[in-house]
Amino acid sequence: MRRFRVHNTFAALDVGTSKVACFVGRCDGRDGIEVLGMGVVPSEGMRSGAVSSVGVAAECIRASIAEAEASSNARVRSVVAGIAGGEVKSRPFQSELALGERSREIVPRDIIRLREKIRASTISGDEVLLHIEPQEYVIDGRTVSANPLGMWGIRIELNSLVVTASLAWVNNLRRSIQLAGVATTDLVLEPLASADAVFDDDERMLGAALIDMGGGTSDVALFQRGAIRSSVVISLGGELVTRDLAMVLRAPMSAAEDLKVRVGLVHTALGDEEETVEVAGIGETPTRTIPVSLVGEIIRARIEEILEQVAAVLDAKTFREPLAGGIVLTGGASKMKGLLPLAQRILRMPTRCGYPRRVTGVPELLGSPEHATGMGLLRRASTLYQNSGSGAGSSVPNVWHWLKERWKELG
Ligand SMILES: Nc1ncnc2c1ncn2[C@@H]1O[C@H](COP(=O)(O)OP(=O)(O)OP(=O)(O)O)[C@@H](O)[C@H]1O
Ligand SMILES: [Mg+2]
Repeated sequence: MRRFRVHNTFAALDVGTSKVACFVGRCDGRDGIEVLGMGVVPSEGMRSGAVSSVGVAAECIRASIAEAEASSNARVRSVVAGIAGGEVKSRPFQSELALGERSREIVPRDIIRLREKIRASTISGDEVLLHIEPQEYVIDGRTVSANPLGMWGIRIELNSLVVTASLAWVNNLRRSIQLAGVATTDLVLEPLASADAVFDDDERMLGAALIDMGGGTSDVALFQRGAIRSSVVISLGGELVTRDLAMVLRAPMSAAEDLKVRVGLVHTALGDEEETVEVAGIGETPTRTIPVSLVGEIIRARIEEILEQVAAVLDAKTFREPLAGGIVLTGGASKMKGLLPLAQRILRMPTRCGYPRRVTGVPELLGSPEHATGMGLLRRASTLYQNSGSGAGSSVPNVWHWLKERWKELG
């Protein structure tokens, strides 16, 4: 039996439509994370961000964990995992609590009661509560800072974004992870995790949006005045572009994927009509030569559709208020050649590619927008680890409350 030599670690699992990625990290002693090992395997048993076959997904998860264990020399017993897809919903919700007849100090128990009220009134039997993300607290009619503890008042309100997922969606994912032999310590909405990896507090305060363009879904998370305002999952991603190419060009998926990555969106400009590319045929069909501009046009049609849906979401949710922190693209599909200018034109806001920050150990992660979700999940795993009493500076009683509540929320 293998002996693992590295301890005091934590792990994250990004179960995507295209790849399953497991990361093992430890605190770097400052504000960052040292990644000790990773395992990335092509995804199977997943469709549009959801598990479509528990057994097949479990095998992929097991393989990615084994790779991450081997490269880090650390044992993975539990993971913080990401969740996304069409059955994950978010909506604003307000709850309020009378503190008594006379003004008194707000204590942690009050916050827990506010959250319990939200849980009781937002969840149907077929749903799981994933997050209650506080947007603002209002005490006696006045909006206060993000932390109301220690303030005095007679009535407190919490405006929050409530994120829920269907019970089946959550349990299929949890079961796959369990079958792979590890426990799930927390489930985190993927765009929230990606945002943790690429944004700093200033950007959230100024207003910023994250768009994670993955294989199966494009996830949007919108931040204004320091808090998340909205999160929407669009069930369109890079795999659809590959499928479009394969269908229109009658080419194998692998050839279509290769064309997509090689050509991207840059070859549709006037003057490129003459340039050609070879594309393999299906079965006995021979290889053909086609104009590069045709490939670009097929890709562009789908990418424009995705970006227009994102623009509609942003218009509806920001009321066209400019986002001074800009728009950040993450996910594997954000690496598409020529995407940034097109995104900037359709979204009508400064747009950049987002790379994970404050991670050391594996230099290539810093240039990998497809691992923003994994790095954000690892950041959440790190916080959980430090607060659980395992890490330095932990405050056990607070976390005990928090964990108890989290388990109740996750069912
Ligand atoms: N250089 C590139 N150009 C264009 N597309 C790319 C490039 N590199 C990766 N992709 C695409 O990115 C997609 C995979 O992205 P990612 O790894 O973020 O997905 P995922 O996390 O597995 O999926 P999801 O989050 O949607 O469930 C695939 O469709 C792949 O073809
Ligand atoms: Mg993803």
